Amino acid sequence: MPQSSLTVTDNRTGRQYELPIQDGTIRSTDLRQIKTDSGDFGLIAYDPAFMNTASCRSAITFIDGDRGILRYRGYPIEQLAERSTYLETAYLLLHGELPSRSQLEKWIEGITVHTMVNENIKKFIDGFHYDAHPMGMVISTVAGLSTFYRDARQVHDPEVRRRQIHRLLAKMPTIAAYVFRHNAGRPYIYPDNTLGYTANFLSMLWRMSEGTYAVHPVLERALDVLFILHADHEQNCSTSAMRGIGSSGVDPYSAIAGAAAALYGPLHGGANEAVIHMLNEIGTVAGVPAFIRDVKAGKGRLMGFGHRVYKNYDPRARVIKRLAEEVFDVTGRNPMLDVALELERIALEDDYFVSRRLYPNVDFYSGLIYQAMGFPVEMFPVLFAIPRTAGWLAQWEEGMRDPEQKIARPRQVNTGPGVRDYVAMSKRD
Ligand SMILES: CC(C)(COP(=O)(O)OP(=O)(O)OC[C@H]1O[C@@H](n2cnc3c(N)ncnc32)[C@H](O)[C@@H]1OP(=O)(O)O)[C@@H](O)C(=O)NCCC(=O)NCCS
Repeated sequence: MPQSSLTVTDNRTGRQYELPIQDGTIRSTDLRQIKTDSGDFGLIAYDPAFMNTASCRSAITFIDGDRGILRYRGYPIEQLAERSTYLETAYLLLHGELPSRSQLEKWIEGITVHTMVNENIKKFIDGFHYDAHPMGMVISTVAGLSTFYRDARQVHDPEVRRRQIHRLLAKMPTIAAYVFRHNAGRPYIYPDNTLGYTANFLSMLWRMSEGTYAVHPVLERALDVLFILHADHEQNCSTSAMRGIGSSGVDPYSAIAGAAAALYGPLHGGANEAVIHMLNEIGTVAGVPAFIRDVKAGKGRLMGFGHRVYKNYDPRARVIKRLAEEVFDVTGRNPMLDVALELERIALEDDYFVSRRLYPNVDFYSGLIYQAMGFPVEMFPVLFAIPRTAGWLAQWEEGMRDPEQKIARPRQVNTGPGVRDYVAMSKRD
């Protein structure tokens, strides 16, 4: 039986160390025993962007980027997209198992009763400029929620955490719809708790003077599936932010605001917007070959292609491509779809993209669906933040229950000057 350990020789001292290997990892803190002398701090691992550092043990989401696999709690994303609902998937992420019928009913009811937000939230949103970016408003409003729920600070009480989880899942669509209505100059629409989660969101977005908003079942299902696909993606930038902020013991509203802020960045939640701009720039199918030529010549990137983790077709992109056809049957075909399909066809045959293992990612088609449904591009990251709230909360909850977790606090390699004496102003020139 080969030993599950790593033998390291420090060539500075000639000493050897035996580091245990568990689950394919060594503990970075085991490196600290490697010293040149007793005054030495010990070896630390340098890993900018955490390219090869696991910050937690997690049983929530599994990704195999080489094989294009994504699973929540062991269930393939394709099966969840086909057969589950967003709220059931949120339950799965948070509890680890699919709910029984009665557990699901209780879960849905527990969330639905929290869909309203305090009336002061309206005044708060009213204070934003008419063309404020919806994501900036969402981030601030979620942070503002922490001031309404003072009990939320008791993060070590599981019952209190559970209550805030219900509230956050329930209120994110309401806040998202309010900021959308604020931009549109339309009155805020109260939640309609006779509707399902996604239908209620659509009602709060689009209802005008009619008593009940008639939600199109195909669009409702499509948005629900998009919510399932975006619900979690293990330790990405915003999720790491959620865990890092949560590790300080702050309330979950403040932590979600920080996670949403990380998602706001164009390298994370904004790529689907970039795809729309790229497709508009290309304009027609005839413009595709010239655009591909430019990309291969290093003049820009093919947005919505390539992924840090997936070196294969992003499994979510496959589901979204099918979904797009169903949505376009209702909304009419997005004229940019043909440009996207042609881009994908050429790229998947071209050696430049094949040799670099660049495949469509989740953002390649999702923006086209959002656009066809009538969302302005600035709402795209908000549509990502709503479902990712389930993942953020599941990861936060897992972190709170993990006895190994402490306040997140990376080390640094100090490159600053050594100690020196303060220089008087008169002597600085
Ligand atoms: C997602 C992304 C940031 C991942 O980047 P990464 O893992 O750091 O990969 P790299 O930037 O090291 O790229 C590796 C090679 O592929 C090329 N490449 C990567 N993505 C490319 C793209 N979308 N179009 C053209 N070339 C691309 C790079 O130029 C590089 O080529 P080289 O080896 O000749 O220099 C990158 O693929 C990208 O910018 N994609 C477009 C934006 C996007 O869709 N983002 C959403 C992700 S969900």
